[in-house]
Parts: sequence; C-alpha cells; structure tokens
Amino acid sequence: MKKILITGATSGIGRELAIQLAKKGHKVGLLGRRTERLEQLAEEIGELAFYRTLDVTDHETASVMYQGLVEEMGGMDVMILNAGVGRDTLLPKWGSDFQTIEVNVTAFVHGAHFAFNYFREQKKGHIVGMSSVASHLASGRAASYTASKHFISNYMTGLRQMGNKLELDLVVSDIRPGFVESEMTENNKNMFWVATTERAVQQMVTAIEKEKKRAYITKRWAIIAFIAAITPQFVWDRLKF
Ligand SMILES: NC(=O)c1ccc[n+]([C@@H]2O[C@H](COP(=O)([O-])OP(=O)(O)OC[C@H]3O[C@@H](n4cnc5c(N)ncnc54)[C@H](OP(=O)(O)O)[C@@H]3O)[C@@H](O)[C@H]2O)c1
Repeated sequence: MKKILITGATSGIGRELAIQLAKKGHKVGLLGRRTERLEQLAEEIGELAFYRTLDVTDHETASVMYQGLVEEMGGMDVMILNAGVGRDTLLPKWGSDFQTIEVNVTAFVHGAHFAFNYFREQKKGHIVGMSSVASHLASGRAASYTASKHFISNYMTGLRQMGNKLELDLVVSDIRPGFVESEMTENNKNMFWVATTERAVQQMVTAIEKEKKRAYITKRWAIIAFIAAITPQFVWDRLKF
C-alpha cells in the first residue's frame, strides 16, 4: 500500500486517479478547492481517503495543508501534481493567462518543492507531474497553456537530474495526455482521439506503477509528439491555430 497525494482531485483526471488508485489498495490524499466534491469522493472511497480543501495558488496555506495531509496519512510515497487550468481562446484577458501561469507553473513548482524536499529527507519517493502533449506544441489559441506544459516537462527533467546528483532513489514521471474527457475539455469542439477519463487514467496508473519517466496518454499521442519535435521553427511561426 502506497500513500499518494493528488492535487486537483475534485474532478476529471485527478478524481479518477484517486478512485482507481484506492481500488488498488493505496491511501489517497485528495486536494482541491471544492470541499463538497472532496467530501463526496472521500465518502465514495472510504477509509483509504483523506482530504484537505486547498487553492494551490495560496502558497503559505499549501505548505501547511500538504504537511498536514502527509502526517494524517502516516507518510507519503508518491505526489501527483495534477491541478491545472487551461483556456482555449485568442488572446485571453490578462487575468486568465495569469491564472494559468499561477496554477500550472508557480503552484506546480511549489508542490514539486514540497515533494522533492520531503523525498530528499526520506531518500526516496516518486513525483508525478501532469504535463500534456501540448508541451510539444505552440498555439495562438492557448499560448500560456502550451508554454506552461512545456515548462512542467522541462522542469521535471531538472528534478530528475537533482535527484541523480543527490543520489536519491527518486522517480519522476512526466505524464503527457492528449485529449481526455473532463470538465476542462467539455466545451472543446475541436478534439480528436479523445480518451474517456477511465481509459486515460488506467494507462496513467500503469505508467505510475511501472515508474515510467514519461508516458503519452493514450499511447498514440507519441506520434503527434514526434511530428511536433521534427517540425521546424519556421513552420510553427507560420501556423494559425
Ligand atoms: N483533459 C485533457 O484533455 C487534458 C490533456 C492534457 C493534460 N491535462 C491536464 O490534466 C490535469 C487535470 O485536468 P482535467 O482534464 O482533469 O480537468 P478538470 O476536470 O478541470 O480538473 C482540474 C482539477 O484541477 C483543480 N484545480 C484547478 N485550479 C486549482 C487551484 N487553484 N487550486 C487547487 N486545485 C485546482 C480542480 O479542482 P478545484 O476546481 O476543485 O480547485 C480540478 O480538480 C490538468 O493539469 C490538465 O492540464 C488534461
């Protein structure tokens, strides 16, 4: 039985991760802003669930909440940094871009610091970051989102290197989903290869169990990642999406 913290556990991917991981017998620590959702989910899961209401951008509170939840669970083996937001619109209001950066970048790094420091003390652990296939892309309709996911994937490589340098038994898993059914994507009409939340999370759980360094969800999104990687900059510069 592992003790697993999950940010953004109130809906979509995070909620389903909590359900599937608890079904496998792991303790799950649930975090999100919507308390009612946390209460319902904790009731559904039963004694393996623990939770704290948290806005991950409230950094002072976040440290206290992460620590409190870990203590209540009796430790932490895995931290899944899943909370995220995204907008799909041309030049969104500054506040919207700011929120994307606050949640997907600043709060991600804050959570990663907490996890890394905890695992450094314990000499081992597993950090899972919810990036995206978008980390390979650039898009005029989601500039801050694609940039934030690029940041996450790149940052996780840095975390892995820090773990190596300190000779920690640290696993860092960079999860890169394509389109997955969730609240985030429910109004997106331009999707393809859309995975149900359940199927996507099954593949994520396998990747986490196998301690993969990176995983495309579903697997065929690796093709898009490959095409994106060999697309020259001048093509990206001319695109209109
Ligand atoms: N769905 C996709 O197609 C897709 C593809 C690639 C990557 N992803 C990534 O997967 C992750 C989960 O997204 P999803 O698709 O499951 O969307 P979702 O259903 O909208 O879930 C987002 C989760 O993030 C939490 N969250 C957002 N802002 C927060 C904040 N300030 N403080 C605490 N929690 C916050 C939400 O909880 P509260 O609102 O209760 O706070 C919610 O639980 C995101 O990082 C997303 O970028 C999704």
